[in-house]
Amino acid sequence: MILKLLLFAGLAAAETGRDAWLRYARLTGHIPSALPSSIVALNSSTSSPVHTAGQELQKGFSGILGKQVAVSSTGKQASSAVVGTVAQFQKAFGSSAPNVSAELIEDGFWLSVKGSTVQIVGQNERGALYGAFEYLSMLAQGNFTNVEFATNPAAPIRWINSWDNMDGSITRGFGGASVFFADGLVLSNLTRAAEYARLLSSIRINAAVVNDVNADFHTVNSTNIQGVGRIADVFRPYGVQLALSLDFATPMELGGLSTYDPLDDGVIAFWGNITEQIYDRIPDFAGYLVKADSEGTPGPLVYNRTLAQGANLFARPLVPHGGIVMYRAFVYNQLPNESDWQADRANAAVNLFAPLDGQFDDNVVVQIKYGPIDFQVREPASPLFANLPQTNVALELQVCQEYLGQQTHLVYLPPLWRTVLDFDLRVQNETSLVRDVITGERFNRRLGGSAAVVNVGANETWLGSHLAMSNLYAYGRLAWDWSLDSEAVLQDWTRLTFGTEPTVVSTISTMSMASWPAYENYSGNLGEQTLNDILYTHFGPNPQTLDNTVWGQWTRADHTSIGMDRTVSNGTGFSGQYPAEVAAMFESVETTPDNLLLWFHHVNYTQKLKSGDTVIQHFYDAHYEGAQTAAEFVGMWEGLEGKVDEQRFDEVLYRQTFQAGHAILWRDAIVNFYHNASGIADEKGRVGTHPWRIEAESMELDGYVPYVVSPFEVASGATAIVTATNTTTGTASTTLGFPSGTYDVAVNYFDMFGGNSSYSLSLSGRTVGTWVGNAVDTGKLGHTPSIYIDGHSATRITFKGVSVRKGDVLKIVGRADGVEPAPLDYVSVLPAGVVD
Ligand code: GCU
Repeated sequence: MILKLLLFAGLAAAETGRDAWLRYARLTGHIPSALPSSIVALNSSTSSPVHTAGQELQKGFSGILGKQVAVSSTGKQASSAVVGTVAQFQKAFGSSAPNVSAELIEDGFWLSVKGSTVQIVGQNERGALYGAFEYLSMLAQGNFTNVEFATNPAAPIRWINSWDNMDGSITRGFGGASVFFADGLVLSNLTRAAEYARLLSSIRINAAVVNDVNADFHTVNSTNIQGVGRIADVFRPYGVQLALSLDFATPMELGGLSTYDPLDDGVIAFWGNITEQIYDRIPDFAGYLVKADSEGTPGPLVYNRTLAQGANLFARPLVPHGGIVMYRAFVYNQLPNESDWQADRANAAVNLFAPLDGQFDDNVVVQIKYGPIDFQVREPASPLFANLPQTNVALELQVCQEYLGQQTHLVYLPPLWRTVLDFDLRVQNETSLVRDVITGERFNRRLGGSAAVVNVGANETWLGSHLAMSNLYAYGRLAWDWSLDSEAVLQDWTRLTFGTEPTVVSTISTMSMASWPAYENYSGNLGEQTLNDILYTHFGPNPQTLDNTVWGQWTRADHTSIGMDRTVSNGTGFSGQYPAEVAAMFESVETTPDNLLLWFHHVNYTQKLKSGDTVIQHFYDAHYEGAQTAAEFVGMWEGLEGKVDEQRFDEVLYRQTFQAGHAILWRDAIVNFYHNASGIADEKGRVGTHPWRIEAESMELDGYVPYVVSPFEVASGATAIVTATNTTTGTASTTLGFPSGTYDVAVNYFDMFGGNSSYSLSLSGRTVGTWVGNAVDTGKLGHTPSIYIDGHSATRITFKGVSVRKGDVLKIVGRADGVEPAPLDYVSVLPAGVVD
């Protein structure tokens, strides 16, 4: 007993995830003795990042090494960890200070570790803090090597965009309520906001927009300017600057003007005044983010002004303060009509922005989503990156997985981001990687960088999912250096978050690296986008919602063919928005890569891919492969039992189990949809064949009635069963004819918002299990809930290793609750290894 306790002593029983990658967990094993015996932070002002760096070093030494080290603002360099700026080092140590200023640009740092002497020199205070976090990251990963290097950011703009609303909700947020706002005001308790700034600073994010792009004009009333000033105050010690999204119509809505025309003198004066009020309270305010003329938001086009005139309106009052405007290229208001073969939402950004190149002020940055549509599972790099050589640009990514499983599906995003970052646009037939365009390098722009939409909430895990945090970590690391390897970054994150045990690192690495390909496999292949329900929540499958809507995310699937013809010769002309070499590649089916075929071309389901498969057979194979991979994640994670603390182990297992079930739902929905559309059979005979599945509607029902589900493809056999009324109980039973043996028994049901039905499952009177469909109402699964029986509410519970006898009577009793009529879809009695 004692032995067992000792063995597990290093593993905390429960971790909530709140410390994310800054846990400073105690290292076990050999720790070198040559470590700093004091910490010198060369600024004692509590709001200074250098002071924060001293506190972090102290915390880190204590946590990681169990070593209590005092911090002071003066001291010697030898045998100390000294942190400060170039100027502070020179002041404190004169000629013995490291002579590194020539190696550093803004926010950069130099780190020297020589045994017990550690020098961390920032170009500015923020850089010094980054350096302290870097050193702590080395220690936390058990890396005690001597190093000496300088590192500088790839670009000055490394921002976060929050989509927090003033009422405390978060758009596309799956991790609880806002850490900034509630009830129209800034929260009085900003503890979590400060903790968030700490996380951001450790990954070298230098500014955060705190409110949603669909901005509320109240954000800039005088009360809220004071309020966001308090957020800036808690950000400041971490070197994170505050920025705000603006509503273009604020002069009218808040200012009482009769116009918001960007050329109107009153409007210009209004914004000048707001800007002054903000800088009075927040002298280090970073700037504005503007979504205008998009999805119904007001903007300059309302007054026939250009987007450049709209952007410059905000830019000018910011100039004296050094602020910038991030003007979003996600602009489309003229909603297209699918009956027009040439119509294409993807064309909007280049059409609107390219003619304005050179007209944006120097402190305007056009912020461009990675693809031309909207954070889909696969999109080509936005051609706008190639079309603005005389304009500052930044890349917009999304850490929040709006269309990518909403943090209930593991999807490690950097491999997806890399497809865009490393894409060569061949501007003027020269190498023009997107990553070199956004840093400003390719076109010699002074300003550039990136922003990522990050929807952390008050949930202890921040994003609602432990594993999803790797995306936030990786975003910051990549924004500093876009050439980093996705897997290496992931492994750093894993060691910091879950410890250095090699099996933990390799398992999480394998799962995460396989996760985006798996998700793409079961959610939308060959560049047809994510086949989410785009009219409701963007979570579960609903392929038919992509077409015949005004949203322009069309697939143009019919009975014989599929894909958007975006060629110049016969289609929407989108391919012509790329520079000549790239345009030529995408213009032809032969040279378009398989994974973007349906983005650029409309082809028959029988079209042969480069892989040799037909489009339709690829669909079938990919969806089966994707669901298979998601199922394997469960077993891989289970292998970490005892190697990861119990709380996080259980919470991740819960999500992986959900994902495995939901991946089967995705698989079946999409293959059924295209099987139905094309009438072409799966060569491998899997589609529609479920030898181990028993449809609920085919069971003997008492108090349950069949219910035809819409869309048909999200329920097995298109039909579920529901209790006869919303207050009664139903029973579904069937006699099993499977050979006696041990099986996993899975029950597919629907967990709707607004009810917590309860269920029991038995075999010939032996209880197998009971459960309540409450994961959505209790927020246990953070995805956007659904009040319907559909692809979002579809879920499954699996009982493992159940002993089943031939002739057993399987019985499910469901009790309705609230709006939820204990809906059931089917039961699978699965022999080992079968995923169905
Ligand atoms: C997506 C998202 C919206 C968001 C928009 C944007 O369409 O669903 O909620 O406002 O992107 O980026 O502006």
